[in-house]
Amino acid sequence: MTRHRTDRVTTVEPTRTREAVRADLLAVFRIEKASFAQPWPYRAFERFLGIPGFLVADVDDGGETGAIAGYVVADSERQRGRPVGHVKDIAVDPSYRGRGIGATLLERALDAMYRQQVGRVKLEVRESNEPALALYRQYGFVHRSTATSYYADGEDALVLVREFD
Ligand SMILES: CC(C)(COP(=O)(O)OP(=O)(O)OC[C@H]1O[C@@H](n2cnc3c(N)ncnc32)[C@H](O)[C@@H]1OP(=O)(O)O)[C@@H](O)C(=O)NCCC(=O)NCCS
Repeated sequence: MTRHRTDRVTTVEPTRTREAVRADLLAVFRIEKASFAQPWPYRAFERFLGIPGFLVADVDDGGETGAIAGYVVADSERQRGRPVGHVKDIAVDPSYRGRGIGATLLERALDAMYRQQVGRVKLEVRESNEPALALYRQYGFVHRSTATSYYADGEDALVLVREFD
């Protein structure tokens, strides 16, 4: 897989990225509510348990169980016979942002989709969401189209695409 970024940011605490399990969902949902004006409901995350693109960043914070610092939900669907990846959700706990965790999660989700033979990956992002836009650009996403009034408050979404081949 061609990576656009090789000089990965090193996170401060030891961080493990792994597939999400049911026990992570409350922490994931807490981060979701802290990150979005219109958060996904809890049950939306339940639906994605077991897919290779639902990943959490597990930070060794000195406690017995560690802490969930962020997550990504990405899946793939067939379009014209070929699987296309979709990054549906990504967020990092506000207190862990700016340490490379979002980039690590996105990179691992792209790896998971690449292994599923996707030719490209798409996502939607608010046009005002500068941190996310900067992150996606670093990973080779380019603006493909605009979805007018995509969000409930009327803001447009930029549809970004990353080609693998
Ligand atoms: C977008 C988000 C996931 C980034 O997570 P993060 O762990 O803070 O990001 P990282 O520390 O890995 O940063 C990776 C890159 O993202 C960009 N970035 C992150 N925070 C940024 C900020 N505040 N301003 C501008 N760019 C930023 C930078 O390009 C950064 O690379 P750099 O460190 O080389 O400058 C996080 O800000 C977040 O959870 N936001 C709220 C939820 C959200 O908007 N999700 C996206 C929905 S489409």
